[in-house]
Amino acid sequence: MTPSKQRILFTSKSGFILSAAGSAIGLGNICKFPGKAYDCGGGAFLLIYVLMVTLLGTSVMLAEFVIGRRTHKNIVGAIRQLGRRWAWLGWLGILTGCLILSYYCQIGGWTMKYIIAYIVEADVIFTDPSAYFLQTLGAEQFPLQGAVIYPLLFLLSAAFIINRGVVEGIEKLSKLLMPLFLVLLVVLMVRTCTLPNAGEGLRCLLTVDVSTVNGSVVLTALGQAFFSLSLGMGIMLTYASYLHKEENLVANTAVICTLDTLIALVAGFTIVPAAFATGITPGMDSAFSFTSLAGVFMAIPGGVVFGILFYFLLFFAAITSAISILESTVAFLTEEKHLPRRTSLILICTVLFFVGMCYTLSLVHTDWKGIWWSIAEGIQYPSFGLFLEYLTDRLLLPLCAFFLTFFVGWIWGAEEAVKEATSYGKYRFPLASLWVLLVKFAAPVAIATITIAGVILGLPVN
Ligand code: PHE
Repeated sequence: MTPSKQRILFTSKSGFILSAAGSAIGLGNICKFPGKAYDCGGGAFLLIYVLMVTLLGTSVMLAEFVIGRRTHKNIVGAIRQLGRRWAWLGWLGILTGCLILSYYCQIGGWTMKYIIAYIVEADVIFTDPSAYFLQTLGAEQFPLQGAVIYPLLFLLSAAFIINRGVVEGIEKLSKLLMPLFLVLLVVLMVRTCTLPNAGEGLRCLLTVDVSTVNGSVVLTALGQAFFSLSLGMGIMLTYASYLHKEENLVANTAVICTLDTLIALVAGFTIVPAAFATGITPGMDSAFSFTSLAGVFMAIPGGVVFGILFYFLLFFAAITSAISILESTVAFLTEEKHLPRRTSLILICTVLFFVGMCYTLSLVHTDWKGIWWSIAEGIQYPSFGLFLEYLTDRLLLPLCAFFLTFFVGWIWGAEEAVKEATSYGKYRFPLASLWVLLVKFAAPVAIATITIAGVILGLPVN
């Protein structure tokens, strides 16, 4: 089928790859991945993570691409077109994306705050990086900047870009800034790895100790892989819906997954050694990249400039991810509910802002709790913020990915999917039968097993 007349398509192959990679590469790679790698056993986690991406991540991404490109529709419309009774899966994806975006914008706001902070008061950060961060979150007074002003600015910037549309907004920005991001990260990695004591961090990441591996570690790796590749909520599906029929989806999948994983690894090898070198306790999840790198910026000549540049690029990585979630939700509201683009944006941003604010407030400033349950540990009450992260990373994302692969493998049909993946025979896909096996059997079974094992074994809730 041909794309609907009014639907704009990406104008170049690199535009699509960089935009999809821009969605994938984000705070997850820089803020979440290093902390998780450290907490979950270093080298063993890295191996499991790469395995999860190679087997499951790539399969689910290609599944999303084929649905999107075949239908040229938003997630709900696309799934409804291919399987009448399955539109709810689209809704579930939209809900998951919105929950993620609510807290994502908060962390994105913190990156803006840190750009300004490095410009005006780097010395205050350097005095006590952890205390500075906790203060941003409201350790002493209401975190007006950390929970309201900067997150709002971040959300408005994302909305502004989305309002400009796919080509003018998303494609142009991604082409410009993604390469810069890569270069700066590699420079920083080289610098942190040569700091005194950084060797401890490298050892932690390079030593594989299988005794650290359990169900919880595998589930964490799986959730992180889906989060990092922006899978499960129809984002890749929506981007592929703006893609020409001639594009090679299989090759694009390989490139995007490789880029995303490389960046995560480079970030891990930047931030974990930095934490060891600066004596900042790793493991605080998002806090990790806000606190541990301060010691590095302090130690190098021109560190403040590096700091400003780093948080600017982190901001950029975050915004290219945030716009991808906004775009998929806006595509849904404009195409299915016939709302104007601007109205959709205002509606979504208002709701997201308030939910997100509760995320930040619950981390340090208040004791708002969520609820979590596992057979092994019973009912627990993590902070509302952590609850949002668990709900999305450990439950909703795997659940959406499970149903998406099941949908492609069994409801729409893997044969049709392979035809779309190869642009109807235009491209070779030597691993097609392996992919069909993965999508039909291995991926749903593995995702379901790991998720259920996580519920049975319990997960550390702090
Ligand atoms: N993949 C992004 C990251 O790693 C986060 C993201 C999740 C973006 C879900 C879009 C959708 O930070």
